[in-house]
Amino acid sequence: MEIKFKPIEEEDLEILKHWRNDPEIKVNCNEWRDLNMQDQWVWFDSLTKNINCQMWAIEIEDKKKYRFSMEKEPTIIGACGIVKINWKNLHGEVSIYIGDKNYQGLGLGAKTLSLMEKWAWEDAGLRKLLGFVWEGNEKAANMFKSTGYRKVGYFSKHIWKKGKWTDVIIYEKILGGAC
Ligand SMILES: CC(C)(COP(=O)(O)OP(=O)(O)OC[C@H]1O[C@@H](n2cnc3c(N)ncnc32)[C@H](O)[C@@H]1OP(=O)(O)O)[C@@H](O)C(=O)NCCC(=O)NCCS
Repeated sequence: MEIKFKPIEEEDLEILKHWRNDPEIKVNCNEWRDLNMQDQWVWFDSLTKNINCQMWAIEIEDKKKYRFSMEKEPTIIGACGIVKINWKNLHGEVSIYIGDKNYQGLGLGAKTLSLMEKWAWEDAGLRKLLGFVWEGNEKAANMFKSTGYRKVGYFSKHIWKKGKWTDVIIYEKILGGAC
């Protein structure tokens, strides 16, 4: 199953909101409040203004072939991006969620990461990507480990998750063999 990136459009905001408000996704993301469409509009507007952030919708071209339950399925399965890009020191942070759970655990998270790295290295000239994983998010930890990210440390009891203080594991990957 192959994926491609597309720019996020107005018509994607509703389904992205639905996924971001899913408790299983929200629990491992920075944004912890429920989002409404006003939040989505503010965020959508900020995408065009913020040069330190590049987001995409993740799309499966022939998704109809893999139709699961919804009658009129959107063609996107999640969103991803590189945020907090530091253009002086050439690094940024990975953001990723496969919102449609039918498509989780199929290797698409890892493929998404590779495509983002290609953009970061070949198009944007970045030299390093960082990943931050809330402790207990094994899928995300395995995704970073299996795609060559190095665990560089952790922030101790850094975030409040499910009623307890939780570590945040830090991963990094140097792109294109840069030194
Ligand atoms: C994290 C996420 C992006 C990973 O994408 P994915 O498509 O589900 O993951 P992949 O299928 O590419 O698998 C990546 C690795 O995790 C492993 N994995 C898959 N399902 C797993 C599970 N339930 N538990 C533990 N590891 C799992 C895979 O085996 C693979 O490791 P391997 O290559 O060593 O075998 C996706 O699960 C997701 O969107 N989760 C919710 C949001 C989130 O947590 N985002 C990340 C915040 S840092």
